[in-house]
Amino acid sequence: MSHADPGISSFDSSINTTRQEFVAWGGGLYVEPDLKVAFPDGNRDLVLQYVSHNVDGNRLRILLKDISREVYVELQYQVDAATGVLRRSAQVQNRTASSLTIEQVAAGTWNLPRGTDYRLRYLTGRWAGEWSLHEQLIQPGKAILESRRGSTGDQNNPWFAIDRNGSNDQDSGDVWFGALGWSGSWQMSIEQDEIHQIRVTGGPNSFDFGYRLAAGEHLQSTDFYAGYSHDGIGGASRLLHRFEISSIVPHGTDAKLRPVLYNSWEATEFKVDEAGQETLAEKAASIGVERFVVDDGWFGQRASDRAGLGDWYVNPVKFPHGLKPLIDKVHSLGMDFGLWVEPEMVNPDSDLYRKHPDWVLNFTGRPRSEGRNQLMLNLARPDVREYVFQFLDKLLDENDIAFLKWDYNRNWSEPGWPAVAPEDQKKVYINYIQNLYSILEELRAKHPKLEIESCSGGGSRVDLGIMRYTDEVWPSDNTDAFDRLLIQDGFTYAYAPGVMMAWVTDSPTWVNQRSLSLEYRFLSSMQGSLGIGANLNNWKPDDFATAKKMVEQYKRIRQTVQRGSLYRLISPQKGSEQSVTETVSEDQNHAVAFAFLHSSQMLYPFPRIYLRGLRPDAMYRIAALDGKLSADTPAVASGSFWMQNGVDVELRGDFQACAFTLERVER
Ligand code: GLA
Repeated sequence: MSHADPGISSFDSSINTTRQEFVAWGGGLYVEPDLKVAFPDGNRDLVLQYVSHNVDGNRLRILLKDISREVYVELQYQVDAATGVLRRSAQVQNRTASSLTIEQVAAGTWNLPRGTDYRLRYLTGRWAGEWSLHEQLIQPGKAILESRRGSTGDQNNPWFAIDRNGSNDQDSGDVWFGALGWSGSWQMSIEQDEIHQIRVTGGPNSFDFGYRLAAGEHLQSTDFYAGYSHDGIGGASRLLHRFEISSIVPHGTDAKLRPVLYNSWEATEFKVDEAGQETLAEKAASIGVERFVVDDGWFGQRASDRAGLGDWYVNPVKFPHGLKPLIDKVHSLGMDFGLWVEPEMVNPDSDLYRKHPDWVLNFTGRPRSEGRNQLMLNLARPDVREYVFQFLDKLLDENDIAFLKWDYNRNWSEPGWPAVAPEDQKKVYINYIQNLYSILEELRAKHPKLEIESCSGGGSRVDLGIMRYTDEVWPSDNTDAFDRLLIQDGFTYAYAPGVMMAWVTDSPTWVNQRSLSLEYRFLSSMQGSLGIGANLNNWKPDDFATAKKMVEQYKRIRQTVQRGSLYRLISPQKGSEQSVTETVSEDQNHAVAFAFLHSSQMLYPFPRIYLRGLRPDAMYRIAALDGKLSADTPAVASGSFWMQNGVDVELRGDFQACAFTLERVER
């Protein structure tokens, strides 16, 4: 591209209308840049040109260099052949003799074919109301999705999908989609320029950003993943799910299936102790639970959320003999043991804060805003990183812990780092997250059997960055099984059901005071990774019998649910009275469908369910997992029959649910 090229007018030179892979700010650029730098001599102009490239298997590297200064950018691409998902990143190298400041850096820009009929889908939310799906036409101008919170946040999630309007069917039409692998403040800009080109740019948030790069140093950008499907938004999420399971989560497809877990948070809150947890563990084991997790309250002076965070010793009153007797008991019941931690936080009422008030994010002499009575440790500090790693490592050395639920219950405020020079303080946005990842990585390397859940007061830290180090994520503190249908539907646009924890909790729920049958609650949760979070001390013998049956059924279908292809047959979006999902195993030999009815009206039957994703010529036996199929349903029929003729289920009333399976049989 030549800058002498006039573009469409003197107002819009070609630098603004040329589709660039990686856009540097300089030479009269007005569109969103990937990189903006400031040099110590006042120059802020950067114009990158191609130097060389290199292909190595499924990786491509392209080297760019500024027209006059020794600033290089290496563009890095890696393609996953099975899904076509492309991972890209950029490395900014300062080979000049002095430092420079990076004021903005993205992984790169995705350019879509010119068009005016694009529609953007994205996810928004808040605590207890995460994963709302939104759609809007892409108009001239720019849409920004972002978090300025220091972490991912659930107000926007770093995922997007773009389709062409009019072809927005679940399973057909062009869809471009992408997600950032970054758990800090982030931004994605979706821009339609003056000649209707679409550019999607993503990386750390440029707001309050500044990263000083000394001579000889480099900065690696975040990863930005993207793909394309011609099988609609359903096809796009199936590709993304497959990619996440095979290429993002630890151990990929060799990872164990998610165990059925029990967590006592909703039952006991902070009132955990040895005897109480042992009683719950016995009850949990009796219904087939495989992992028993002690939540908040076991450490320090943690009687409520007012104190104790930071003091990671076992509370001697609640657990006078340490955790060992409980862990032994859990093991003797055939379960493994998990524990809640919130390593990045401190309550002002803690020994840690009394000793190290300078360890939190703060600006000298300014207020320190609390959220849930807690402050943020500054993980960018090497001593804080060391403290957090050491206490976790010791906890894992001293106790046989299979699983950590890693929580994070607020976002940043006053993000100062007084211990370093003012011009380096904004590095906190990058160094914090790098240290978080490195702690997770090192812990996993030292304790290879450890599994970790990413939780953030619900689903506020779910992204492809944290998922590289965690085996599962917690989508929401909202465990109302009806609300969860919508939450789970939104979640699965971006993330795989196999990593989505879903607990069966008490009825009526604390959230909406809604009463739902135990079967309904189980079926809602069985669409993800099943957990139980109810107070088992209040259950009647019938509840235990139902739960035992449902847990057994879940274990039979979980391979399909956690690893299969998800089809949204009837969406719960837009106040739908019904919703239906279906998951088909990778070999297409097994399928399971879940159907939910909000309320029957005017004698209308439940809509017929047309299955998808089966082999048309193969024969499948249908069986109700829970609830009833219509009496005229054949026992065995072809894939074509189930897809074209469909299945009727007997669902009538309010908040009803049923599920059925299809198993391939020989002709
Ligand atoms: C957060 C989590 C909950 C629970 C509490 C404990 O809100 O999302 O599941 O662990 O913290 O304080």
